[in-house]
Amino acid sequence: MATFSKKIQKLGVYTSGGDAPGMNAALRAVVRAAIGQNLEVVGIMQGYVGMIENHIEAIDQRFVANIIQRGGTVIKTGRSTEFTKPEGRAKAAANLKAHGVDAMVCIGGDGSFRGAHALWEEHQIPIVGVPGTIDNDIFGSDKTIGFDTAVNTALEAIDRIRDTAASHDRLFIVEVMGRNSGFIASAVGLAGGAEEIFAPESLTTVDKAVDRIKDGIARGKTSSILVTAEGQKPGRAYDLADAIRKKTGWDAKVCILGHQQRGGSPTAADRILASRMGAAAVDSLLKGHCDIMIGTEGEKLIEVPLDIVTKNEKKAHLDLISLASVLAT
Ligand code: F6P
Repeated sequence: MATFSKKIQKLGVYTSGGDAPGMNAALRAVVRAAIGQNLEVVGIMQGYVGMIENHIEAIDQRFVANIIQRGGTVIKTGRSTEFTKPEGRAKAAANLKAHGVDAMVCIGGDGSFRGAHALWEEHQIPIVGVPGTIDNDIFGSDKTIGFDTAVNTALEAIDRIRDTAASHDRLFIVEVMGRNSGFIASAVGLAGGAEEIFAPESLTTVDKAVDRIKDGIARGKTSSILVTAEGQKPGRAYDLADAIRKKTGWDAKVCILGHQQRGGSPTAADRILASRMGAAAVDSLLKGHCDIMIGTEGEKLIEVPLDIVTKNEKKAHLDLISLASVLAT
């Protein structure tokens, strides 16, 4: 782990990448923990976009009042291609220096942490990361902020779909988020009683899914739900429906849950996780620790070097996916 010795007077905080329910709770924790330690706090608006465009504003305890229950992020978020280049990062570092920012907390996903790691390496700005993404795909942390809420949101939708699927004896394909990762799909699929789960980590095929549905029909099942992770682009569910139609003539209904999974009030679990992680990030910086992420290992909070976080991949557990198939009989 990297360390630094400069005394922090002014702390910057930003949210970056896809928003996640609970980011506001993490922001609130960072701001209030820091001010409690007599630090000044500035918010960097829209993540790396605002860092480059110099949208940096002082924030206090009142700024973060009444946000613990709100989805999204009140300091906005963004994805910046300019920041992926050294010139963009140099511009951002100059702005931070001009504002007297001594250290920062970055609330975001792995792309955001790659940026944070580069800022430390190139400009020695001490940063601690807090994992906020609905995808739960950050290496080094069992849990990420927003995952629990997104899973529950998707599950509520599946329960509703099941009502109509059962009433019409239909096959539904429900597409959940997770561009490169099947955490949401596997959790939602198991908890929602899906017949098969298609995820980047899953070994299932259209043939297997069709066979399973046929087996179910033979046992008296009249409706089925398949869950798929969106893959590289939303719309994978339509490709699956086409493949199933070609193979069987069945008319599978498609339901893409999309960005609604990213919004909404965070669950208690996400608010608690965000509050603990936000406060822990400030503690780590005050100890002089940086270039790390606060992660969870079981119930414990841990510090993980950003280098390790960003160079490794966390894959969804195949055991949830296979358990879902075993139980969907
Ligand atoms: O990283 C979180 C995530 O919600 C992914 O699951 C999804 O693929 C992606 O963001 C969508 O990003 P955008 O909102 O920029 O289209």
